[in-house]
Amino acid sequence: MKLRTGLLVVSTLLCVGVAVIAQSERSVWDGVYSEAQAVRGQNTFSASCARCHTVEDFTAPSFLMGWEGSPVLDLFQLVQKSMPMDNPGSLRPEDYADVIAYFLRINAIPAGKDELDTDTEHLKLIRIQQKK
Ligand code: HEC
Repeated sequence: MKLRTGLLVVSTLLCVGVAVIAQSERSVWDGVYSEAQAVRGQNTFSASCARCHTVEDFTAPSFLMGWEGSPVLDLFQLVQKSMPMDNPGSLRPEDYADVIAYFLRINAIPAGKDELDTDTEHLKLIRIQQKK
């Protein structure tokens, strides 16, 4: 009897655990940035990135392909650590998030109601996928 109850508790906990993971893991296709944020990102891109980059650098299939399956956190941290190349880390974390929102939009990935924030734990749970 005790053992059965124990097993029941364990399997219930497992189910709940799986449900929580399924709920919190998302992809970039789940409306993870807002339209207003992408517009801000476009301005930041023009001001801080466009002197070295063209929009095509980030719409070419090779761009998202290179990040396929990675969490948005990896892209966020790379950009924050290394860009603008002549002054890395010089923008606010929110500015980097805005530019990433802009990158999603120019790849025809739809906006949602919430902004992409700069929280490491949140960004870790959003997967980059070229296709839905
Ligand atoms: C002074 C020039 C310069 C500026 C300004 C600059 N970049 Fe870059 N960026 C580069 C170069 C050069 C590379 C290629 C580096 C490499 O291949 O190792 C690069 C690479 C990148 C990559 C990697 C591309 C990939 O295929 O994964 C990203 C993302 C990126 N830049 C984003 C940005 C963003 C966002 C900004 C503005 C905040 C920015 N860069 C500003 C020069 C610059």
